Amino acid sequence: MTTPWWRSSVGYEVYLRSFADGDGDGVGDLRGLRDRLDHLAWLGVDVAWVTPFYPSPMRDHGYDVADYCDVEPVFGTLADVDAVVARCHELGMRLVIDLVPNHTSSDHRWFQEARSSRDNAFRDYYIWRDPADDGGPPNNWVSNFGGPAWTLDERTGQYWLHLFLPEQPDLNWENPSVADEFDAILRFWLDRGVDGFRIDVAHALVKHPDLPDNPPAEAGSRWALMDEAAALERLYDVDQPGVLDIYRRWRKVVEPYAGLLLGEVYLLDIDRLAAYVRDQDGLHLSFWFKPLYVQWDPAAIRDVLAHAAAAAPDGLAWVQSSHDRSRAVTRFGGGERGRARALVFATLLMGLPGVPFVYQGEELGLEDGRVPVELAQDPVALRGGPTAKSRDGCRTPMLWEPGEGYGFGSTTPWLPFGDRSDADTVAVQRDDPDSMVHRYRALVRLRRERTDLHDAPLEWLHEEGPVVAYRRGGTLVAANCGEQRHSAPLPAGTWEAAFCTDRQSEGRSHVRELALAPTEAMILVAAETTARRG
Ligand code: NOJ
Repeated sequence: MTTPWWRSSVGYEVYLRSFADGDGDGVGDLRGLRDRLDHLAWLGVDVAWVTPFYPSPMRDHGYDVADYCDVEPVFGTLADVDAVVARCHELGMRLVIDLVPNHTSSDHRWFQEARSSRDNAFRDYYIWRDPADDGGPPNNWVSNFGGPAWTLDERTGQYWLHLFLPEQPDLNWENPSVADEFDAILRFWLDRGVDGFRIDVAHALVKHPDLPDNPPAEAGSRWALMDEAAALERLYDVDQPGVLDIYRRWRKVVEPYAGLLLGEVYLLDIDRLAAYVRDQDGLHLSFWFKPLYVQWDPAAIRDVLAHAAAAAPDGLAWVQSSHDRSRAVTRFGGGERGRARALVFATLLMGLPGVPFVYQGEELGLEDGRVPVELAQDPVALRGGPTAKSRDGCRTPMLWEPGEGYGFGSTTPWLPFGDRSDADTVAVQRDDPDSMVHRYRALVRLRRERTDLHDAPLEWLHEEGPVVAYRRGGTLVAANCGEQRHSAPLPAGTWEAAFCTDRQSEGRSHVRELALAPTEAMILVAAETTARRG
């Protein structure tokens, strides 16, 4: 077997609506993306994941798909997708697109047909049930976006299931026609040259056939976006037997194209998540989201990384930010402190087996943008009220150049920039060798060049203390996640600092021990391997 292309890759998430507006309507689009791909190439990333661009009524900003084989005009055309694919390939990058197989938009032709009558040929594409005896929903499941997971269709007298908005009806994956449809959808995009798929809510496609009530959660789950969703244990609506068979089938479809299947498996129990990638016969990779919930505490950080890396070797995509959660800089305390911690965390992720992903703007050290309530766009914010964890703040537009509009586009963007300054832009940071964007670039490049970081075994170095460190062959990653300066022992030999969060410390040699300032991280290279590997 040849080594898959993603083994040595660094990924980058493009949240399309907020990346670059090519046609001046305030919404990021494919033309804008194409013209800004050079930034990704300059940064050194290998694979771009772009969020959904399909026709959609945008109730959930594109995660409500009305046609899987076309493009929403606000984002461009099929020809624009081709142009993005071509430009990516020209720049030596790959393109992964977002696939949303758990649910469609209620505007999708399948759902329009399905709800027209109980005996319509598409009825069984979705999950319908009679009302409970009291006329209420068939069970107690709740939507991730608040309220019951069921909505009554007055005309046909049955409820449809939706784990998200009522306008995002869940597909019925027990129906073989649904599986056939998706085989064709995968091929449609692979034939156009895309290199793989990020699979939305990949753990939820199969539901328990009896649809039993979910039991109350013992200790409310702190990762749910809404309080109601946090109150139930997700025992029967996600992570059901059979879901992996879908990816086993897809694997056969993508393999002739060397296509990547990257799941959004939103399970924070690594042992359950690992089942999706362990045998490498279904998904190639899954995102691991628990780092998005970790406190700034060395033991917690070591645990969330080490445990996962051991449970799912080579099968994880590592992130510390995304379009669904508060940005790492904000979570880690904001300001300079938050920025320093986020860079340390990025350093730790960059050396692990699997694929690290950077979320757009992370490389600029952005915190969440401030979005006034009256400008809220996220359905979570609109429906959830003050306790909901709005996703608008992490979705504010990219900052390319100084000055009005920040080079994003020529008109007021769909979300405000959120209190930014010229120093936050790509252009200003590119002129400053000490800036965050240069630190990220150095990190990404090192990840690419050090083959140890693609294939050498992973060995954790200290079981306790403020320094979180691991070694992969002749490369060592160490981070002081404590509040004091600390010296940690080094393995035998001379170690040269090839990357430091503080650029001034790069190039120095260390023997026997490594002294790290608080919130400082380094990637060190064994001196003899420097000579051997060049
Ligand atoms: C996960 C996506 O990342 C999120 O943005 C979306 O709202 C849900 N899945 C529903 O599709």
